[in-house]
Amino acid sequence: MDEFIIEGGQRLEGEVTLSGAKNAALAIMTAAILAEGNTILQNVPNLRDTRTIAALLKHLGAKVTFENGQAEINTDQINDLVAPYDLVSQMRASFLVLGPLLTRHGQAEVSLPGGCAIGDRPINLHLDGLTAMGADITLDHGYVKARAPEGLHGADIFLDFPTVTGTENLLLAATLAKGRTILRNAAREPEISDLAGILNSMGAVIKGSGSDVIVIEGVKSLKGVSYEIMADRVEAGTFMMAAGITGGRITIHKTPTHCLAAVEKKLTQAGLSFEYEGKDSVTVTGPSSLRSVDIKTEPYPGFPTDLQAQFMALMCLANGLSVIKETIFEDRFIHVSELDRLGAEIRLSGNTAIIEGVSGFSGAEVMATDLRASASLILAGLAAKGQTELSRIYHIDRGYEKIEGKLTALGANIRRIKK
Ligand code: EPZ
Repeated sequence: MDEFIIEGGQRLEGEVTLSGAKNAALAIMTAAILAEGNTILQNVPNLRDTRTIAALLKHLGAKVTFENGQAEINTDQINDLVAPYDLVSQMRASFLVLGPLLTRHGQAEVSLPGGCAIGDRPINLHLDGLTAMGADITLDHGYVKARAPEGLHGADIFLDFPTVTGTENLLLAATLAKGRTILRNAAREPEISDLAGILNSMGAVIKGSGSDVIVIEGVKSLKGVSYEIMADRVEAGTFMMAAGITGGRITIHKTPTHCLAAVEKKLTQAGLSFEYEGKDSVTVTGPSSLRSVDIKTEPYPGFPTDLQAQFMALMCLANGLSVIKETIFEDRFIHVSELDRLGAEIRLSGNTAIIEGVSGFSGAEVMATDLRASASLILAGLAAKGQTELSRIYHIDRGYEKIEGKLTALGANIRRIKK
């Protein structure tokens, strides 16, 4: 398994261009299932997760080419409506094929995605919504078996929690359902607006994406289009915090600025400064010393849970006490014990972490446990005195494209070794 060896202590300086957003690309690639003809996607990040969803689409019978950031998908020959455990268990977002397969083909069998390191990740809200739209759903031997021989019909659905992929699965299903679907308490994440963007360009009739009420008028069919995936806001936030934790100065290009207000506010309070240039470039400068800041993760537009671990690494080196409350996932503090190995002082109480700032990290052997936890350990390693060895970096390869190349170009001393 690959490892990263990081020699800490460099101030990161220079420019970086973001890749396409993993969590937009995954949903948008499944949207191709709905469309007749070719769907051509640009700015698709080359990640384990996007390669997994491409493999799943091929398994279902789609024609898929994916290279140099472009994916071309034709799903007209889909002939297998079963998404198998070995693919869905690798990448939970594969569960997003359920809605599209069901609404276009009248049936689907998708392996239950199971839990992961950050929580048990139920999918009850996905299934309740599809049932309200007329699907007959049974759970059998670890698979969700869904049937709608007469097709789906519109429904007025209230989501108990603004689930991101739950909103996406139901949005996808509603595009070809008969009549109107209303999703209330819908997730407002920018990736959902990006998904609605391609669906509307395919011929769907969706209003209200980005708000908590989305209204979809079902149509007969959708046509393949060309579409560019939005930039990755989580990657943007991660590089902003790399500037913060190393006291560096990084210019980030293709920043989805309108999506990061909550993050920018908290980083400004911590002492970072932001200078916007042109349409989507921002130069972020880290302070000589960081101020401690409290955060609570929330559904968008609140502080994103996907940047909580990275922010914690920053707060470990701030002056004084900071408090981080994780309200989205029940077990998203697994990075704490690894940060402790680098010298952090963190106390946990339920879904709250209390961080006592320390004068510095010292390099150590640490282990990645999930995608964003690994990003926080890289940030800590960049600031640590001495060498940090980060193992199990297959987690990072799921969601950050060419991360060591981007960091090296900014002056970091990081290299990948094969163990
Ligand atoms: C999406 O996961 C993202 N993944 C996650 O990013 C992100 O952390 C999360 O949204 C929250 O923003 C993708 O978009 C592929 P949820 P998702 O459904 O949709 C509960 C990353 O690192 N819930 O919004 O699975 C659930 O238990 C990943 O890129 C139900 O109870 O998250 C959780 O507590 C990690 N029943 C909360 O909602 C359901 O049916 C939020 O989950 C669905 C969810």
